[in-house]
Amino acid sequence: MTDQSSASGVYTASADFIAKAHVDAAGYARMYEASVTDPDAFWAEQAQRLDWITSFSKVKNTNFDYGNVSIKWFEDGTLNVSANCIDRHMLTRADQTAIIWEPDSPSTPAQHITYRQLLENTSRMANVLKAHGVTKGDRVVLYLPMIPEAAYAMLACARIGAIHSVVFAGFSPDALANRINDSEAKVVITADFAPRGGKKTALKSNTDKALFDCSDKVKCLVVKHTGDQTTWIDGRDVDVKAEMAAAKPYCPYVEVGAEDPLFILYTSGSTGRPKGVVHTSGGYLVYASLTHQYTFDYHDGDVFWCTADVGWVTGHSYIIYGPLANGATTVMFEGVPTYPDAGRFWEVCAKHKVNQFYTAPTAIRSLMGLGTEWVEKHDLSSLKLLGSVGEPINPEAWNWYNTHVGKGKCPIVDTFWQTETGGHLITPLPGAIAQKPGAATKPFFGIKPVVLDPANAEVQTNTAAEGVLCIADAWPGMMRTLWGDHERFQEAYFAQYRGYYFTGDGCRRDADGDYWITGRVDDVINVSGHRMGTAEVESALVAHEAVAEAAVVGYPHDIKGQGIYAYVTLMNGIDPTDSLRKELEAWVRTEIGPIAKPDLIQWAPGLPKTRSGKIMRRILRKIAENDFGALGDTSTLADPSVVDDLIENRMNRG
Ligand code: WT7
Repeated sequence: MTDQSSASGVYTASADFIAKAHVDAAGYARMYEASVTDPDAFWAEQAQRLDWITSFSKVKNTNFDYGNVSIKWFEDGTLNVSANCIDRHMLTRADQTAIIWEPDSPSTPAQHITYRQLLENTSRMANVLKAHGVTKGDRVVLYLPMIPEAAYAMLACARIGAIHSVVFAGFSPDALANRINDSEAKVVITADFAPRGGKKTALKSNTDKALFDCSDKVKCLVVKHTGDQTTWIDGRDVDVKAEMAAAKPYCPYVEVGAEDPLFILYTSGSTGRPKGVVHTSGGYLVYASLTHQYTFDYHDGDVFWCTADVGWVTGHSYIIYGPLANGATTVMFEGVPTYPDAGRFWEVCAKHKVNQFYTAPTAIRSLMGLGTEWVEKHDLSSLKLLGSVGEPINPEAWNWYNTHVGKGKCPIVDTFWQTETGGHLITPLPGAIAQKPGAATKPFFGIKPVVLDPANAEVQTNTAAEGVLCIADAWPGMMRTLWGDHERFQEAYFAQYRGYYFTGDGCRRDADGDYWITGRVDDVINVSGHRMGTAEVESALVAHEAVAEAAVVGYPHDIKGQGIYAYVTLMNGIDPTDSLRKELEAWVRTEIGPIAKPDLIQWAPGLPKTRSGKIMRRILRKIAENDFGALGDTSTLADPSVVDDLIENRMNRG
């Protein structure tokens, strides 16, 4: 295979890659045009990738008008999502591996779960749920490690028409209780412990605490995963593995409507309690499977690895539903990138001959700081494509990923999307669209991005434009509502810019029509009347060789309105000196301009992150505002102690 070629920062897949790809540039142009000019015809055809029990007669029935927002796709069709992810593959790939489970410790053997075994285990789990009274439309909360039972439980819910709500295992008992109560779940499925990075989280004990604040009717199904001792409440707690072993190995699937909910996933807004994003069955699965195939250029027989946790939408769409609907082999990893050492990702890629690897920029940046020897130790020749998700990827991380992981041969797909969107919105399709480090590039089929001027909500018609990113029309994978609160749904996404879905993100569209996501507009700061993406300043800072990571927020400034406050984590072994501080200020001045020069730089040994790696800017903004008495909930932080250090060494004491 020849290298992907680069000219002035624009990268194109090799001719060989393009020749084998599902779509090339002309194919993309044709399909995209069809998808936006006649969405009914386009999506009716794409929906044939699923097995329907009753075929639909109606395709798109959607309305983005505030006050009357309603999203329905394939509404009179019926299907079963579990049957589409498992049963229909039985004739052709029963003995193919569906899931490769890679445990936290490399000394524990990996499991290769075939589609036949997936059917049996999902069925057993479904029969256990049924035995505990779970029926169609009931909610089941999952609070589990990254273990095969998490996949069985999701698919078992889908099989019997129950609605799952996965709560990331890093969340606190309080957060879990809120989600069980808000969704009025009948059952919570948990495990004794969740091993991660050689440590264990006591999930069962967290669940016990959560259940103090829930109805005493909630059943607690416990997967004895590590086998360590836990408390046990007879009559409430259920040994899942024992009951699965005794259950029938087959469970018939039920017929559900295309618009019946498949899952609820709670996501934090910038204010208020978490929002229960609702996804339904038909449209979601069409979209998850289509994006999985085209974005990653997935081909039969490939091994696909998305490193996310099933507690996030990325895990739903690109570990479970998209890949399995496509009959793929999907890797499920219980561990972390740096355990037992910084080569773990690459060791797993080599071990399972991974073809497509999909991770987050934060992981890449943390590994970058630890040196290239960890990558070079392992044979990465199986890799064909790399993916990025979750935040804008800064060019330095992109280049490192491209050079050291992809060896200059693997296209990188920078996929922009959200919990709310179900699947990718903007991403380069690797055989069709040239990549630019840091750009999400072009819309997926059916997606009509618009850039609006936030000052007057006017649509920017010039190709080169900057503003807030909205989407002008519905697509099958989008959320339908917020659980139990359609009003809040309309308020959050359709009130601000009438007639459009508002992403909450800022973006720039360049002269080639490529989209660059600049970060949440709630993170945009205004310095002397100039609007600036905090991501832009961060990108500049991390471009400096001494900087491992940076987070930038605004803080009140007497003259400028807002000043720029930068938290900077230095590379291992670099001394935090005043002269380095000056150097960084000058660096940012020259990288972006004088307006972007940080007013305050605080050396941060660590940044407050959620366990999924998202920096908690709310906390950083408070500390920068010298208002650390009101930090709010810090219980979801991976390491709450970093906050104390930041407060103690804060730079703004005015
Ligand atoms: C927000 C959504 C759905 C993936 C996991 C995150 C940011 C996501 C990108 C990207 C720039 C990105 C946006 C978005 N984001 N992907 N490729 N480039 N920004 O899901 O927790 O719902 O967060 O993540 O700001 O609004 P999420």
